[in-house]
Amino acid sequence: ADTRRESLYVLSGRAAKFFSDTMWESDEGKTIGLSYFRERGFRDDILKKFELGYSPESWDALTQKAISEGFKEEYLTETGLTIKNDKGRMYDRFRARVMFPIHNFTGRVIGFGGRTLKTDKSIPKYVNSPESEIYHKSNVLYGLFFAKKSIKDLDNCYLVEGYADVLSVHQAGIENVVASSGTSLTTEQVRLIGRFTKNITILYDGDAAGIKASLRGLDMILEEGLNVKVVLFPDGHDPDSYVRQIGSNEFKAYIDKNQKDFILFKTSILLKDAAGDPIKKAGVIHDVVESIAKIPDSIKASVFISECSNLLQMEERILITELNKLRLGKA
Ligand code: GTP
Ligand code: MN
Ligand code: MN
Ligand code: MN
Ligand code: MN
Repeated sequence: ADTRRESLYVLSGRAAKFFSDTMWESDEGKTIGLSYFRERGFRDDILKKFELGYSPESWDALTQKAISEGFKEEYLTETGLTIKNDKGRMYDRFRARVMFPIHNFTGRVIGFGGRTLKTDKSIPKYVNSPESEIYHKSNVLYGLFFAKKSIKDLDNCYLVEGYADVLSVHQAGIENVVASSGTSLTTEQVRLIGRFTKNITILYDGDAAGIKASLRGLDMILEEGLNVKVVLFPDGHDPDSYVRQIGSNEFKAYIDKNQKDFILFKTSILLKDAAGDPIKKAGVIHDVVESIAKIPDSIKASVFISECSNLLQMEERILITELNKLRLGKA
């Protein structure tokens, strides 16, 4: 079984090399893939470090190449690089897309994300590798292999939504950044980060979906006993678009200035809708205490209760009563 897994790793690594060779060496790859990345502002050193590439506009270029090199059909379909249709015809999953290899935290390629270059809304923007024996989406973080040293050194991990966000933030000199690409954040992913640091800062997209995902993500992080802060970006921006607009130094300053602890973040978001309505305000207080109730460490929880009490001008005693009810599962 180990030799089988090893073969899947070797094949995935081979495919990454095929995509990057195609991007750097073929005419199609250079004029389409490489130009795309360069126009987005990615430097060559980042493209090389993350082993980015391009899948040619061909039905089966990779499949044929791999078979000619002796890779088993079964491994090609297991990794999802090749799709076999009802008629038994084999074709490449990734065609005419820029390719983001996904590495496990020891640096081996285990899957891919491929972005279309078309603006046609009927085509999915990203296609990802399916789950396989070596790729379990729920316990992989994009960029972790390149980020882990910096995460340890700085004792903090930035969490973004997408592949491009990881690259841009990394390129800006902030290397402690990972993405939960393709899935919403999972408990396993939080635990994986927890092996390197207990501090996470969420940098999700500045849109309704990003805010919703941040609220959900922060509860999961608290439940795992980690500390969490959140940075909200101006509407319509994600870390990639924002760092490109304002530059690296301004971006770092923006993060430092705008990071909020989860209480401040959650209250400011929820109070916007409450607009002075006392019933709604009571709901906000309840929701914030609900997040505090997820913190396993009771001393930490009581520090946040004080903060919440000051911020919402509500007696601590009442918040503690509510907290205890929630902890006992009665509210
Ligand atoms: P760019 O347009 O390249 O900057 O992408 P983005 O990363 O900003 O995309 P977006 O904010 O829309 O999505 C965040 C992440 O969700 C992406 O990086 C992908 O991992 C994933 N994602 C986005 N669109 C799709 C899709 O159509 N299918 C799948 N499976 N995943 C997607
Ligand atoms: Mn799985
Ligand atoms: Mn988005
Ligand atoms: Mn985005
Ligand atoms: Mn983006």
